[in-house]
This record gives sequence, structure tokens and C-alpha cells, in this order.
Amino acid sequence: MSTLAGKHIVLGLSGGIAAYKSAELCRALVKAGVTVQVVMTEAAEQFMTAVTLQALSGRPVYTSQWDPREANNMAHINLSREADAIVVAPASADFMAKLLHGGADELLSLMCLARPIDKVPLIVAPAMNRQMWSNPATRRNVAQLQADGIHVLDVGQGDQACGETGDGRMLEADDILEELEAFFTPKVLAGRAVLVTAGPTYEAIDPVRGITNLSSGKMGFAIARAARLAGAEVTLIAGPVSLATPRGVKRVNVRSARDMLLAVQAHLPAQGVFVATAAVADWRPDHSAEQKIKKDGSGQTPELAFVENPDILATVAQSAAAQKGALFCVGFAAESHDLLAHTTAKRLRKLVPLLVGNIGPATFGQDDNALLLVDEAGARELPHASKQVLATQLIEDIGQRLK
Ligand code: C5P
Repeated sequence: MSTLAGKHIVLGLSGGIAAYKSAELCRALVKAGVTVQVVMTEAAEQFMTAVTLQALSGRPVYTSQWDPREANNMAHINLSREADAIVVAPASADFMAKLLHGGADELLSLMCLARPIDKVPLIVAPAMNRQMWSNPATRRNVAQLQADGIHVLDVGQGDQACGETGDGRMLEADDILEELEAFFTPKVLAGRAVLVTAGPTYEAIDPVRGITNLSSGKMGFAIARAARLAGAEVTLIAGPVSLATPRGVKRVNVRSARDMLLAVQAHLPAQGVFVATAAVADWRPDHSAEQKIKKDGSGQTPELAFVENPDILATVAQSAAAQKGALFCVGFAAESHDLLAHTTAKRLRKLVPLLVGNIGPATFGQDDNALLLVDEAGARELPHASKQVLATQLIEDIGQRLK
């Protein structure tokens, strides 16, 4: 479940072509369980109609500070007092300049000025042409808005409606939603660096064939996302999977177990937490043929010999133990039966403080799972839920341990 569920957000639109994305943002917020009150400036109404946003939010839109629907005729006070946050998307260059100076000549800026700043955060998603974005006036304004405690989101990069290319596009609706999710997530891993391995590995037999497994990478990607939402700097070492990289996560793609070990070792310095969710192949062919192994028609099958892959988790945990606690290691165990016994034994064998057991065949490729957290003191179950919910719970658990 989204941390946004149950929140009440005032979605403000100022004038800019990116306003078309706000319709999608409004819809996504409602889908996440948010009640959305839309407020539009006169300029915003040049780009979108209040009818569209009323239909999507399920509430009448406010466009004027003189709106007679409010019994006390103080829409700016009433709307801002009930909000968990005000999100202005798009925030035009002009609107940001107005915010900066405490301008209040229409409802949206008036409401932003009138909000109780200690209770109602203001989050703005800038949208403008690249020259406007890089103009010293805008640079100054962004810096001052941040200094005033206003949360200024990043801008996107790419083609702009004017035909130019560069920085200044408003973030996509999904990205804004993710930033809002991050904004409301407790920062249990603030300031921590977290390294996660995920997905299967692929061990080549020849240039066109190899050995892999059914790991989807979903659990590891969910953990990387949850860690980032909780304030961590996250690096995700991913085996061959086609999942989208969670926003704000640095991803390094690898193929084989040995590549994964090298990538982990390269990124290990400065990490505070290592979570090994990857389903690393235990064995690889002892050599990979340079050319495709051909069928010769004789019915004879090729002889494959295997060698054991390095155990990435055990290697990392061993050096972490030697360095006495600078790195907190978490492993996973995909078992088919006797989960507690196997997970407990594996934890001791791999020398990790926390090992997370799950039933492999039941979870590979699925969107949900159930986890058993095994540590020195015993075991705790995280009952059946979506992988994202479990990832959030696991990150909260890790956050508690690091306190
Ligand atoms: O030994 P087993 O594969 O069951 O151990 C599972 C745990 O060890 C997982 O955390 C997995 O990511 C990690 N592992 C590893 N390198 C291997 C094998 C497993 O990091 N070669």
C-alpha cells in the first residue's frame, strides 16, 4: 500500500504546457488513495479545463479567491488548513518568482502564502523552457525557495514543447508520484548507502546458450526502491532482468556471477548495508566455447563440466566480519521446505547477522511473497503480502537494527 493512501493533497496548477501531465498526476494520486483538491490559476486554465480536473479528482476545482461556495469566502484559508501537502505542478517560472516574493494576487499563490508552514509542506514541480530554467533569475529563485523550506523537485531533460532540447521539462506523473511517496516515507535509512544484488545470473555455455534460473528480480528491485524511499543512497547490481530501474537508484547491469562479484566489490567501499537477493548460479560451465557448439548429426551430446561460482554474500560477509561491523549484511535463502531450519543453518554458514528465508518455487516471478527473518535471537515472520510491502517492512526492520 502506498504511504500516500489516506492523505489529502491540494494539487495546484500554474500556467504551462506541462499542465496536461497534471491530469495524469491527479488520476494517479486518486488511484493511490489520495483525496485531491485541485486549484488552478487563470493561466493554467489556458492549458487545461477545470472540467477535466473536476472529473478526475471527483471534486469541484477552485480557480478564484472570490469563490462564493466558501461560507466565509476564505478559500485560501480553508483549503490550505485541511491539506497534508500542497503540490504545485506545473510550477511555472513566474509562479515560482511569485512564491519567492510572497505574491498573493490570485488563489493559488495566496493559499501557498497562507498555509501553516510547519504543518503543510509545499512541493513544487518546475516546468519551463531550458533557457528559462538556466536563467540566473530562476537559479536564484530555486535556491531561495529551497532555503525557505519549499521542496523543489528536479526537472526532466529532453525534448521541449517549444522544439528545443534540454533541462526544464516537468517530471512525468509517475516520477512526481514517486517523489511524493519518498517525501512521506519515514527516513529510517537517511544518510546510509545500501548495495543490493538482484535477479538471476547467466553463465554462458557458448555465445548463444547459457545457464540461468527463474528469479525475476522483483524482490531485490522492491528492496532497492524501499531503501531509496527510506532515504538511502542505493546501488542495485542487477542480473539479466527487464525490470524498470526504481527512480533515484543507481543500477549496474551484470551477467555472470563473477561479473556480479566484481561489481559488488567495486561498489562496496562506503556502503553501510549489503542486501543479497540475487539468485546467483551455484555453478558455471568450466569453460565457455568461443563459437556456437554445433549438433553434428551423430546424436552425441556435448559433455559439460561445471565449476563452483564464488559465493558473493559469504565473501562480502566474511570481510565485513573482519572489519568489525562497518557493513550490515543481509542474505536471502530460497528454500523449498523446512524454511526455519535451512535459513538458520545458512545464516550461520554465511556469517550474516540477518538471513531472510522464503519459499523459492512459490515466489519466483510472483508479485507477492512471505518472509521469515532469522537472526541470532530467533525468527520473525512477515506474512504474505506484495513484494513491495514486504520490502518496506524489511527496510524498516533493517533501519531499527542500525539505530
Ligand atoms: O547458498 P544459497 O544460494 O542458498 O544462498 C542464498 C544467499 O546467498 C542469497 O542471499 C544470495 O544472493 C547469496 N549468494 C551469493 N552468491 C552465491 C550464492 C548465493 O551472494 N554464489
